[in-house]
Amino acid sequence: VSLRHEPVLLDESLARLWTGPGLYLDATLGYAGHAHALLARHPEARLLGGDRDPVALGLARTRLAEFGDRVMLVHATFAELPAVHAASGGEPLAGALVDLGLSSMQIDDPGRGMSFMQEGPLDLRMDATRGEPASTRLAHVTEEELAEILRTLGDVRGARRLARAIVNEAARGMLPTTRALRETVDRALGGRSHPRRYAQVFQALRMWVNDEAGQLDALLEWLPDAVRAGGVVVTLAYHSGEDRRIKQALRGRVVSDVPRRLPVAETPRASSPWESLTARVVRPTAKEEAANPRARSARLRAFRRKSA
Ligand SMILES: C[S@@+](CC[C@H](N)C(=O)[O-])C[C@H]1O[C@@H](n2cnc3c(N)ncnc32)[C@H](O)[C@@H]1O
Repeated sequence: VSLRHEPVLLDESLARLWTGPGLYLDATLGYAGHAHALLARHPEARLLGGDRDPVALGLARTRLAEFGDRVMLVHATFAELPAVHAASGGEPLAGALVDLGLSSMQIDDPGRGMSFMQEGPLDLRMDATRGEPASTRLAHVTEEELAEILRTLGDVRGARRLARAIVNEAARGMLPTTRALRETVDRALGGRSHPRRYAQVFQALRMWVNDEAGQLDALLEWLPDAVRAGGVVVTLAYHSGEDRRIKQALRGRVVSDVPRRLPVAETPRASSPWESLTARVVRPTAKEEAANPRARSARLRAFRRKSA
């Protein structure tokens, strides 16, 4: 296994995830780095694993084959997990892991157009078997909608100007590739080769094409109720907006295990069945960040459902 697939904050997440024998959910299998370590370290763990990316799922299936019937893998988005879990018997979860965002595999595959640094079709889907590529969707979006997407999901400056240029070119079929998009960004906003600007634009479009916010909301709506008493939810977010959503979703339900001075309005409800295991967000060490660039913006949080 090359360093590129190194799971982020592995020991830190597994130490919180393991709560004893039972069924664990990995909603974001990817290359199954976390899942493999969980199953290898804890022979009494069983796993329900999902990923929306069929390529990742295939790799995870091969990698986890050694664990036989302790593992059940499904091609599923977050929004589909409630039905998948119910169909599998609905056993309350001992723990759930959500490692958001992209895998190195997805970023490094030029065929997906996820990286502005690589030449490829402007697709941007995590699952190329469903929906439409970004290049097609951009031909149908309105200038106003796209400006809002660029602004809210990418903090793009000059969002309106750029949206106008993108919509015009996409409608004429002139935005088939990552390079064409970069050139449009340069033309619309002036200057050349601004990596940060490209990154913001690609991120916004990727989050939109994959409905990442809607997916996360669907997951956070369901997951807390699927976890058994004493069970945990462990999350890894790479984007401050997602980290905030996670905190907010569990805030009303969370009572921190460490006393904190909070404004009254933020004091969690005393009746909450959830407690935070990470009063402070957990970040990778400088050493891990140096060894694994994907770890750089990672923020780990963990929440436990109190025993009845
Ligand atoms: C950061 S990678 C996970 C890496 C994994 N923990 C490992 O150790 O190899 C995130 C994975 O989550 C998947 N994913 C992201 N959003 C998803 C969603 N809404 N539904 C299902 N899978 C999703 C991606 O396809 C990707 O494979």
